[in-house]
Amino acid sequence: MKALVLILAFLPLTLATLQVGFYATTCPKAESTVQSVIANRFSKDPTVTAALLRMYFHDCFVNGCDASLLIAPTNSTQSERSAGPNLTVRGFDVIDEAKSKLEAICPNTVSCSDIIALATRDAVVQSGGPNYTIPTGRRDGLRSDPNDVSLPGPSLTISEALQFFIEKGFSLNDMVVLLVVQFKSHWIRIVLPSWTKTHHLSSTIATTSNS
Ligand code: HEM
Repeated sequence: MKALVLILAFLPLTLATLQVGFYATTCPKAESTVQSVIANRFSKDPTVTAALLRMYFHDCFVNGCDASLLIAPTNSTQSERSAGPNLTVRGFDVIDEAKSKLEAICPNTVSCSDIIALATRDAVVQSGGPNYTIPTGRRDGLRSDPNDVSLPGPSLTISEALQFFIEKGFSLNDMVVLLVVQFKSHWIRIVLPSWTKTHHLSSTIATTSNS
């Protein structure tokens, strides 16, 4: 679990200016506001944790953690949300709720990408997972193009899926932690169809995940 926390905490460190407590002076209630929105939502719908974890993953894997996944398509423009793998991403309304509350107390200050990161952490905590500090100060991206969306699909072999993670700087171990430790059922669904083809790699993963 410690490894998963480290990955979740540092996954978004794409820019050097991030720091823990980035909003301490500009919006001191930023983190507590997100926390109370998530606690309230979790009490009504505990599946918000799964929704936010997936949203965070789908946002960060495409051009970094820049909240470009939140940009809604219009009649004339498509966005990342229009891409196939994102059609079933949930939880946009809870991020909108946190953003509205934050705009009311500190307008134009807290980025949506920080809200996603904080909200995901808080949802993990609500689910009984560990707490961890998150460096903040991300800036939201303006580019949101469905053609940029390249995410691993459920029919990939392990080696093909691993390629996606390696391209983002993750190791096999990181992939195992992300997929196995928290999402055993997820993992079984993804791995079993390709088990025979990738038996050697699967054995490595099974060994790693047991350690
Ligand atoms: C090889 C990599 C991955 C593949 C192929 C994959 C594929 C999928 C698929 C097909 C679904 C079901 C979507 C639907 O219901 O339509 C799903 C759901 C989900 N995925 Fe992944 N995923 C991967 C990696 C990850 C990672 C790294 C995370 C988290 C860090 C994650 C978190 C989740 C969660 C929490 C759900 C359930 C979302 C919900 O309940 O709304 N996935 N994934």
